[in-house]
Amino acid sequence: MTEQGKINREGARPASLFERADAAFGIGPARVPAVPPVPQAVRRAAPPQPQPAPITPMATAKPATAPEPVPPEAEAPRAVAFCGPFAPIDREHLRDGGLIVPEDPVTGLLEEFRIIKRELLADARAGAVSGHGALSRRILVCSPHQGEGKTYCAINLAIALAAERGLEVLLVDADVVKPSVALRLGIAAEQGLMDAIADPAIAPESLVIRTDIEGLFVLPAGAASSLDAEYLASARTGDVLDRLTQGAPDRIVIFDTPPALAASPAAELAQHVGQAVLVVRADETSRAALEDAQQLLSACGDIKLLLNAARYSPSGRRFGTYVTKGK
Ligand SMILES: Nc1ncnc2c1ncn2[C@@H]1O[C@H](COP(=O)(O)OP(=O)(O)O)[C@@H](O)[C@H]1O
Ligand SMILES: [Mg+2]
Repeated sequence: MTEQGKINREGARPASLFERADAAFGIGPARVPAVPPVPQAVRRAAPPQPQPAPITPMATAKPATAPEPVPPEAEAPRAVAFCGPFAPIDREHLRDGGLIVPEDPVTGLLEEFRIIKRELLADARAGAVSGHGALSRRILVCSPHQGEGKTYCAINLAIALAAERGLEVLLVDADVVKPSVALRLGIAAEQGLMDAIADPAIAPESLVIRTDIEGLFVLPAGAASSLDAEYLASARTGDVLDRLTQGAPDRIVIFDTPPALAASPAAELAQHVGQAVLVVRADETSRAALEDAQQLLSACGDIKLLLNAARYSPSGRRFGTYVTKGK
């Protein structure tokens, strides 16, 4: 993201923040060679996934005129409706925080996040075609350190995505160490993700806050405990996330996380998502930190770099770059 979301727009469309991150941080050996034009900054081959049984016609040929009766839909799980408390979001509070305000005129900030969301949505749809739809609709937003813009980008991305007609966006505050999503949105948060994981008697959908931004829902972090890492590593995490996403092809989940290099939740959650957005802050994030973070998130087969807070010259050239010394 450019500072204050401003962007020089002379001439052609500037490269997306993924493309710019790629130019600044091309990650050498870990990077899968890009096939031009590939907007993703870092794209790794997906790890081998268990393949669903191929849906093929009967192996023994049958006359085309006598097709097998189509069996009723296998018991597809039905989507749960989010049914937690309702909280209006104060637009002035969003504005003060430099966040996207849905009703405001289109800004450079919104345009940048529109480009990002298109790419994430395209990959989510591709995932649906390849049979990994539920996973590819779960998107982790993370970065190596504190203060690099994870929460800023996660919220803006969620608001930009919620503007898509027919899409439900669940913004999950998975920064159980320093939760800040609810605070930034100006809404009260009590129970949340960690409560639902710790207590199987709690239905996670009952903790999801409904907002007055159409399509935007928020699951706060919930009560922190000394066992958070163990809870997140438990099978219950997968159950909770499945419950929130199953049977809902038009639902995207965005996870805001603690710094990958400071706490384990991002690495744990990387196992449960199909896409990860690794935020790198121009002039601040070191290449070494970035590579360490990539390593920690390697359970996710699709990691994209997003360049945050780059500055631009009048010609549109990016000033920000990575720093070579560790922070
Ligand atoms: N592109 C940006 N433009 C302006 N302010 C930003 C930008 N990115 C982050 N910030 C601000 O920087 C601070 C740290 O960002 P934050 O999202 O809280 O980082 P993290 O979640 O990675 O710790 C916040 O005050 C946030 O509003
Ligand atoms: Mg944060």
